[in-house]
Amino acid sequence: MTQRFTGKVAFITGAARGQGRAHAVRLASEGADILALDLAGPLPAGVPYDSATPDDLAQTAKEIEALDRRVLTHEGDVRDLEGMKEFLARGVAELGRLDLVVANAGICIPATWDETTPQMFQDTIDINVVGVWNTVVASAPHVIAGGEGGAMVLTSSYAGKKMQPFMIHYTASKHAVTGMTRAFAAELGKHGIRVNSLHPGGVATPMGGGDMMGAIEHTNASNPKLAGMGTTFIEPAWGTSEEMADAVAFLLSGEARFITAEHLSVDGGAQYF
Ligand SMILES: NC(=O)c1ccc[n+]([C@@H]2O[C@H](COP(=O)([O-])OP(=O)(O)OC[C@H]3O[C@@H](n4cnc5c(N)ncnc54)[C@H](O)[C@@H]3O)[C@@H](O)[C@H]2O)c1
Repeated sequence: MTQRFTGKVAFITGAARGQGRAHAVRLASEGADILALDLAGPLPAGVPYDSATPDDLAQTAKEIEALDRRVLTHEGDVRDLEGMKEFLARGVAELGRLDLVVANAGICIPATWDETTPQMFQDTIDINVVGVWNTVVASAPHVIAGGEGGAMVLTSSYAGKKMQPFMIHYTASKHAVTGMTRAFAAELGKHGIRVNSLHPGGVATPMGGGDMMGAIEHTNASNPKLAGMGTTFIEPAWGTSEEMADAVAFLLSGEARFITAEHLSVDGGAQYF
């Protein structure tokens, strides 16, 4: 494995499992020390898949330590700006600096437009939009203070470029992340910080577990012709967390030095189907 992140420190939200864990382990495997934050506890009502646990977050730490890298974990909520600031202050004091950020934490609740409750809409915006804003706002001062610039990836979705049927709240939140990426890239550019977004298609993670498939089938039944909107041009129709981590590592690396305010799809072509 090449070592593109030796001497760097990366902050990843939603790092207990799924894509967030893959990003953390991938960056560590290329030399980065890791600050890993996750709720590691109950997700909001209406989320149809299982929640992550403290054991999941501990497993992420174990995999990073097995690579001989340093890691600090925090059971925290991306909605809690002050809590995130405290963790980052502690993390930077201990690990020395902060260079790379992956705002990955998010939730997804399938529901038709008339079954979506105000609470589902609010929870989705609070975590997927305000949580991403909090992540950048809490971390950017540390990256700037490091004096060497840095890079961030904000996790959106193919729902942040096209749309995902029966997920008006999720689609709205992920489009907001796309816009935020461009706007943060513009202002943080003068500090040498690049900001790009990742737009996964379907990815095999615990988000697809529990009763997620049942919830999607339920919504699809209300208007079957919309169900094919996430069709890919290639098979299999799902990506892996490691494939997402490949893209994130590229965007964070020096190979992407001239890439900022860009929105990289890793979705098998689904955005154009
Ligand atoms: N899996 C997919 O098919 C898919 C597709 C497109 C985009 N995405 C996006 O990718 C990102 C990662 O998703 P994943 O597939 O790894 O799902 P996942 O549910 O396996 O992992 C998400 C992690 O985020 C954490 N999290 C949720 N709310 C949080 C909060 N308020 N504070 C802190 N942590 C919180 C969870 O505990 C969990 O560990 C999400 O933003 C998701 O919307 C996923």
